[in-house]
Amino acid sequence: MTRADRRGGAVDPALRDAVRDLLEVAESQRDGVLPIVQAGDPVLRRRAVAYTGQLGDELGRLLESMRRTMHAAPGVGLAAPQVGIPLALAVMEDAGAPDDDPRERTPLPYRVLVNPRYEGVPGPHGEPERVAFYEGCLSVHGWQAVVARHRAVRLTGQDETGAAIDEVLTGWPARIVQHETDHLAGELYLDHAETRSLTSNDNLARRWADPDPRAAAEALGFPLA
Ligand code: NI
Repeated sequence: MTRADRRGGAVDPALRDAVRDLLEVAESQRDGVLPIVQAGDPVLRRRAVAYTGQLGDELGRLLESMRRTMHAAPGVGLAAPQVGIPLALAVMEDAGAPDDDPRERTPLPYRVLVNPRYEGVPGPHGEPERVAFYEGCLSVHGWQAVVARHRAVRLTGQDETGAAIDEVLTGWPARIVQHETDHLAGELYLDHAETRSLTSNDNLARRWADPDPRAAAEALGFPLA
């Protein structure tokens, strides 16, 4: 069965052809790397349309190009609206960081999210667990800010084959899931950030390279979760 058959949805020829044109330009002129839309473009502010097979056989090609774009940026996640496609699709991948990193930045092998949703998972005593760290977005180039997010989430949705996903992720992978899924609801991380924490990438590297944000909170004057 084809992907479209398994999803039961029809191909949208106009959307599929628009994606094909975008990919042909990227593949012939930019080594498969797509231009990343920046904040201020309405596509980043609209709720993405559920993916039900609209792209037919072009889905795999789009996802491969999104992965190349994420690697080239470089980034650890990319949602389809960030390349101008208003569908509920995202890719994620992170090599991780050393074990003592307070962000719990465990390696996240490449994976695709189709129609993802998440909910916070409480701590061992039922208490809400939120953690605050600096994060950035490829569509808000040059800046980072602190966002308090669920430490763990239950992720549901599908993968690129249409198979159901239902699992719990913790730490940095959970943060990536929340960031990318929020994109598909038309939200940017800045909507949830401590705005006084906003820092240029240069200042982040120079002053706030320690992933623990407490020194930044004290010096810049913002609360931590
Ligand atoms: Ni982003």
